[in-house]
Amino acid sequence: MTDCKGDGSVGLTPLELYEKLSAHGDTIRALKTENADKADIETAVKLLLKLKVDYKKLTGEDYKAGCPPSDTTVPSDNGPASDEGDDLVNPWSVSTSSAKGVDYDKLIVRFGSSKIDQELVDRIEKVSGQRAHRFLRRGIFFSHRDMHQVLDAYENKKSFYLYTGRGPSSEAMHVGHLIPFIFTKWLQDVFDIPLVIQMTDDEKYLWKDLTLEDCHHFAVENAKDIIACGFDVNKTFIFSDLDYMGSSPSFYRNVVKIQKHVTFNQVKGIFGFTDSDCIGKISFPAIQAAPSFSNSFPQIFNDRKDVTCLIPCAIDQDPYFRMTRDVAPRIGYPKPALLHSTFFPALQGAQTKMSASDATSSIFLTDTPKQIKNKVNKYAFSGGKDTIEEHRKYGGNTEVDVSFMYLTFFLEDDEQLEKIRQEYSSGALLTGELKKMLIETLQPIIAEHQEKRKQVTEDMVKQFMTPRKLDFNY
Ligand code: TYM
Repeated sequence: MTDCKGDGSVGLTPLELYEKLSAHGDTIRALKTENADKADIETAVKLLLKLKVDYKKLTGEDYKAGCPPSDTTVPSDNGPASDEGDDLVNPWSVSTSSAKGVDYDKLIVRFGSSKIDQELVDRIEKVSGQRAHRFLRRGIFFSHRDMHQVLDAYENKKSFYLYTGRGPSSEAMHVGHLIPFIFTKWLQDVFDIPLVIQMTDDEKYLWKDLTLEDCHHFAVENAKDIIACGFDVNKTFIFSDLDYMGSSPSFYRNVVKIQKHVTFNQVKGIFGFTDSDCIGKISFPAIQAAPSFSNSFPQIFNDRKDVTCLIPCAIDQDPYFRMTRDVAPRIGYPKPALLHSTFFPALQGAQTKMSASDATSSIFLTDTPKQIKNKVNKYAFSGGKDTIEEHRKYGGNTEVDVSFMYLTFFLEDDEQLEKIRQEYSSGALLTGELKKMLIETLQPIIAEHQEKRKQVTEDMVKQFMTPRKLDFNY
């Protein structure tokens, strides 16, 4: 049995650790019901997250209340994606024991990517001729691979295309899912380039307890939310894997090429697959890799295989693209470039990302103004002090305050954000007032999104999802 290094879990069997986690969950619920001291709750939550990380390391599975580990679980080797330090970041789980969130600088070193520094932000502004998006100005998109090469080529009149995606696991997307799409829309506008969006309904079928019909239905419903972000229909192709894989020989040929050049050992190392994972999961990464190569879309790129691909996504998706970049030269294709974002945190705190599978952690794109208000007021973790007197005296901590973090994602005005930061830190602004500002910022954004989504017709979805020529000059 593997030795778990986490506090209090050394030497435990998977079942013992599972039981310890269940008991600890009960303790936290009791502390909350009794309105226990905030510091005690925080310490207990930190320990819970630590135990969850240990559980994942020991069993290769996420901890799920009510689902004890199966006897057949074996230790996972998540390779560089998960086994150093406290932070767990991979396509299925994100957690850290720090209330400030994942240590992104460490992640850059661990994943071997590069920091988006001021020089790169300035260069993007210069080449695009536009002021940098707030996500770049504020370090929300913080890491990249080969962005300088993309800009070099663009300056030499060699265009590129964008590729991003969504795993449709339910009808409702949450605000965190919007982050890469908002940014991708900005990139499409400022560089005037084509975009392909992969809906991995096959992935969700393989990973979740859902039918193929459900997953395909969610792909179409989620496509409506994506279209509502304002993408240009003449430059955007959205596809469901379940539809496109069977209809595009070029796409499937690339999938097979990738499958031939990546071994089971490699995907085990990158993704932590085990002998008991179904073979669909093991071969799936080739399907997420294939859109990174332009000849997967002959209708757009006329069979050219050398058009550079740029992938904006949150950093949890990087394992797929480390694999893609590794295999690309071996099959004669250019490596895709990447822009990585940080995570939009859960309402309860930055120890984990907002997740659709935990309704209380998320603000959904379908939430009403009242639901937004209630969720923020009830769940948004506060960096404020326990009493007004103390808060006025010592001020609040914006580094752990979820409402402030959300404002950094959504408030456009830099000066206003800085003023809020100063006033909250000095104690002039109270938690209730900060939450009110967040509620008043989010409500119109979500309402506007819902209005735009209502205007997306079935015909429009069909148009976006039909393989066709796009406006593209190389
Ligand atoms: P999915 O559906 O988990 O997530 C869709 C996109 O949203 C990002 N994301 C987040 N960004 C910020 N904060 C969060 N809390 C948050 N949660 C999710 C993800 O990084 C992703 O960019 N397998 C993929 C679908 C996919 C894909 C791609 C994504 C296929 N091809 C290419 C990016 C690029 C998935 O299940 O994403």
